[in-house]
Amino acid sequence: MRGIKASPASVLRRRARELRATGRDIIELSSGNLDFPTPDHVIAAAHDAALRGETRYTDVDGTPELKQAVQAALLRDHHLDYRPDEIVITNGSTQALFNALLATLAPADEVIIPAPYWAPYLDQVRLAGGTPVVVPCAQNNGFKLRAEDLQAAISPRTRWIVLNNPVNPSGALYSREDLSEIAAVLLRHPDIWVLADGLYEHIVFNGTPAPTLAEIEPRLKPRTLTVSGLAKSYAMMGWRIGYAAGPAALIREIITIQSQTTSGASSISQAAAVAALDGAQDVLTERAAILRARRDRFAELLNECAGLSCVPPEGTFYLLVNCAGVIGKRAPDGKVIATDRDFSAYLLEQADVAVFPGEDLGLSPHIRVSFANPSATIEEAARRSKRACEALQ
Ligand SMILES: Cc1ncc(COP(=O)(O)O)c(C=O)c1O
Repeated sequence: MRGIKASPASVLRRRARELRATGRDIIELSSGNLDFPTPDHVIAAAHDAALRGETRYTDVDGTPELKQAVQAALLRDHHLDYRPDEIVITNGSTQALFNALLATLAPADEVIIPAPYWAPYLDQVRLAGGTPVVVPCAQNNGFKLRAEDLQAAISPRTRWIVLNNPVNPSGALYSREDLSEIAAVLLRHPDIWVLADGLYEHIVFNGTPAPTLAEIEPRLKPRTLTVSGLAKSYAMMGWRIGYAAGPAALIREIITIQSQTTSGASSISQAAAVAALDGAQDVLTERAAILRARRDRFAELLNECAGLSCVPPEGTFYLLVNCAGVIGKRAPDGKVIATDRDFSAYLLEQADVAVFPGEDLGLSPHIRVSFANPSATIEEAARRSKRACEALQ
């Protein structure tokens, strides 16, 4: 297993569940779930599909209808023109990312991962036999990768760079100019491919979908895999629909792996995804506006907690909170808070608030909290966190 452990998110979910089972009222700020429901017309489409008998295996690479809907969405949102044989539908974008790595990595191949990062990138690379090369992104650059840091991290073994926009967990949003600077470096290194993960592309607060590399620099399109999914944009986390678009030869390899492992995605979920992508898109801006208000309120409240500080992000539904001010302090039970993992454990065990430790995201001392929760939950979580911080000596 190459030292692979269960993903930190799944371990946290299990512990929160255990505590809840003992009757504790745990507020979960650690998960990637949105509290919004999947839109009604999407659920209706799934119901209709089931009643129509669309309950059989679909083509491994996805139904023609969903591939067409993805093709249209990529054109609409990014002016990117992909043919159907350049698109694959996957079981969540997780599978698109992993299968791409599995298809391409040889032992000792390196994958550049800007930090802070979505934790599974690292273990996915290791599982596929490669080596993650983590490049820290400074807070004073908005947690975004600098062109010169990318250049310095490149070696003859670099096979991929992962570019997530906007970034989980920092919420950083790469502008077109930011991406152009990165593209200029990559154009000088023709052997490096780009895994462009746009899962949160519509959870942005400036009204336009987050740009993706292939639309910024068409010369990189032949070596870019544009990955996204329905989970966050349409609150369809559990439906498990993702997709990848890229050169036909790579897409064929991804499909081959998919055919031998999980096979195609759920037929019902694919029908639902067509309705989400083809239907009215107002839900995206409406929900982004709600999240923006929650973001501002939560950031304001957390900045009132002794030892914590955060800056409202431009995208995603996470706040990355600097907790340097609580490190070294002592909890009422005498335990010293030495790391952000200790602080996360303290908040969970003593304040009934589950947060994500920065250690698992490549950035310490920080915690990541989600504001994809109802306002009342956010207010209560902030109250509990404030009390917990005040109790530290
Ligand atoms: C940055 C990022 N990429 C990919 C994924 C995978 O999402 P899914 O498999 O639900 O599409 C997640 C999930 O939280 C994520 O945060």
